[in-house]
Amino acid sequence: MTGLAKIVVLGAGNIGGSLAQRLAESDLAREVVLVDIIDGLPQGKALDIQESAPILGFSTRVSGSTSLDAIAGADVVVETAGLARKPGMSRSDLLEKNAAIVRGHAEAVRAKAPESVCVVVTNPVDVMTYYFRDVSRLPPARVFGESGTLDTARFRTFVAEALHVAPKDVTGFVLGTHGDTMVPILSLTSVSGVPLAKLLPPDRLAALVDRAKQGGGEIVNLLKTGSAFYAPTASQAELVRAIAHDEHRLLPVSAHLDGAFGEKDVYVGVPVVLGRQGVERVVEVELTPAERTAFRASVEAVRADLAILAKLPR
Ligand code: 2OP
Repeated sequence: MTGLAKIVVLGAGNIGGSLAQRLAESDLAREVVLVDIIDGLPQGKALDIQESAPILGFSTRVSGSTSLDAIAGADVVVETAGLARKPGMSRSDLLEKNAAIVRGHAEAVRAKAPESVCVVVTNPVDVMTYYFRDVSRLPPARVFGESGTLDTARFRTFVAEALHVAPKDVTGFVLGTHGDTMVPILSLTSVSGVPLAKLLPPDRLAALVDRAKQGGGEIVNLLKTGSAFYAPTASQAELVRAIAHDEHRLLPVSAHLDGAFGEKDVYVGVPVVLGRQGVERVVEVELTPAERTAFRASVEAVRADLAILAKLPR
């Protein structure tokens, strides 16, 4: 049985299209609407997905629109619109252009779907989530960003390959910003409960951590014309499923901090409990002194981008 009436996916690029497909195939809502400014793109991708329903057996209605009026009545809005990185770019290089796009969408959410839960994907995601929340004026718990579930999935993949174990048995957290200063938390990473430090020597662990940190860039360098979308949309669908089925999942997302981890007035990746109302609570796990230092540096990197955001013309 579906949990939601309507999910709106803003942006019908590689991420938006792939996400709409995953959401429809999982029957998470009665309706999924793809929205984009390029006429024909959201309608074409939506129709293509809809035509897979007889084969795949899902009931979700999928449609496309170029109008932000489509946001009205959304239970969940996923903001994917914006430019993606090209080789040599950092996520922060996208800040100015993507802020202009996010601003219009957040205003539309404020006017048309103030009761929705919003998941922000647009990069630099911690800053764009802060901005989306600020402009939409939704309660902070109902706006969060996708970051840690993706970064953690990459880390889990590399650990699984190194140990020749099932990827799903590797659990753990990558916290901090979705950027170069992200913080894989080795003290909370295990294979079916066996701590990673007991399975791999420190130098191999360090190499896996480095690869996970560069995981998004590795794909950008391979694709050359855009960034990753299969693992990102798997991660986004996991988050929407947690909302749709009110699962109370404990997952890392970019969440608003109001004192937890010693930080205020910032969005950054932390473990939260996620359900139908969005972020139910931040889970303040204990970090080692080195992890805490790295986490603080990560928050400072987000604050530096927030300072750039604050100087942009409104
Ligand atoms: C990534 O890490 C697009 O930021 C996204 O692949």
